[in-house]
Amino acid sequence: MIETIQKHRQDFDSRICSTSVAEPLKQLRIDFLGKKGCVQALMKELRQASPEEKRQQGKLINDFKQYVENQLKDKEEELGKSPKGRPSTGATFDTTLPGRREIPGTLHPVTQVMEEIKSIFLGLGFQVEEGPEIETDYYNFEALNIPKDHPARDMQDTFYVDGEAVLRTHTSPVQIHVMEDREPPLRIIAPGKVYRCDSDVSHTPMFHQIEGLMVDENVSFSHLKGIMSIFLQEVFGKNTKVRFRPSFFPFTCPSAEVDIQCVICSGKGCRVCSQTGWVEILGAGMVDPAVFKFVDYDAEKWTGFAFGLGIERISMLKYGINDIRLFFENDLRFLKQF
Ligand code: FA5
Repeated sequence: MIETIQKHRQDFDSRICSTSVAEPLKQLRIDFLGKKGCVQALMKELRQASPEEKRQQGKLINDFKQYVENQLKDKEEELGKSPKGRPSTGATFDTTLPGRREIPGTLHPVTQVMEEIKSIFLGLGFQVEEGPEIETDYYNFEALNIPKDHPARDMQDTFYVDGEAVLRTHTSPVQIHVMEDREPPLRIIAPGKVYRCDSDVSHTPMFHQIEGLMVDENVSFSHLKGIMSIFLQEVFGKNTKVRFRPSFFPFTCPSAEVDIQCVICSGKGCRVCSQTGWVEILGAGMVDPAVFKFVDYDAEKWTGFAFGLGIERISMLKYGINDIRLFFENDLRFLKQF
C-alpha cells in the first residue's frame, strides 16, 4: 500500500508540475479525487485490510488525499492570477533587469491655463458654473437677443445638430441658464468647449471659452474694466498693455473687444496678430436690458457685465505658440514642454 501511494504521489507531482492551463487541472482532480479516482480505489482496497492495517494505511491515504487537495487548490489559485486567457509560464521574476520607469503625464496646456484662470476668478469671488454643449436655438441665440435671421448669427459659424439644436458657439448661453435659476447678486464664470465652423492658425472648430457674468445693483463699466485689467495682468504680467475697442454683441450694450499687445512679437506685427501688434483676447460689455427681460430680471434694479474669452488664444500668447492647431495634434514633443 505504501508503495502504491508513493507511485500515485509521483504520478500526481509530475502531472501537476506540467499543468499550466485550467482544463487539464480539472482532469487531474477527477483522476485523483473523483468517484472513480485513485484515492477512492485505495479506499476500496482498504476494506479487505485488518483493523490495525486500516488504522495505519487509512491515515496514509487521508494524508495523500489532503496533499492532493492542497496542491490542486494552490495551482488553481496560481492559474487564476495569471493574465486572462494567457497560461502562466511559471517563469520567475528576473531581479537583475533594470526597472521600468512610469512616465508621469501632465495636464494639457489648455487645461493648465483654464485652471489658472479659474483660480484667479475664484479669488475675485466668482463661482464656477457649467452648461450643456448641445444647446437649443433659444439659449444659444434667441434669449441672448439674437433673433432668427439676425445678421449677428453669421458672426459665429454654427454647427447645427438639427433644426432647433446646435453645438453651442459660445459659453454665453450659460448666462441664461444661471439667471433663469437664480436671483441676483451673481458673480459666475462658466468654462467649457464651444464649436464653430472655422479653421486657420488662430481658429479651430472646437475651442474653449470662459464666460463671466456679474449682476448686482450699481454694477458699471468701470467694474468690468477693473476686473478685466486685474485678470489680464495676473495672467500676462503687471506691464501688459490692454486696450478696449468699441464693438458689438447683441447681448451687451455698450460692448467692447479687449486686446492685449501681442506678446509673440511685442507689438511689432507677426502672423499671430495678423501684423497688427494686438491680439483680441475677449469680448465683453454691459448686459443688455433686453436679455434681462428674457430671464425676468428687473432692469431698473439690476445691472451687470459679461465677458467671454478664448482659452487657446490666451495659452498661445502665454507660451509663445504661433499656431493654435498644435494644441490638438497631440504630438508628445509639443505637449511634454508644459
Ligand atoms: C463671443 O463668443 C461672445 N460670446 C463673448 C462675449 C461674452 C461678449 C459675453 C460679450 C459678453 P467672440 O466670437 O468674439 O465672442 O469670441 C470670444 C473669444 O473666443 C475671442 O476673443 C477669441 O479669443 C476666441 N475665439 C473665437 N473664435 C475662435 C476660434 N474659432 N478658435 C479659437 N478661439 C476663438
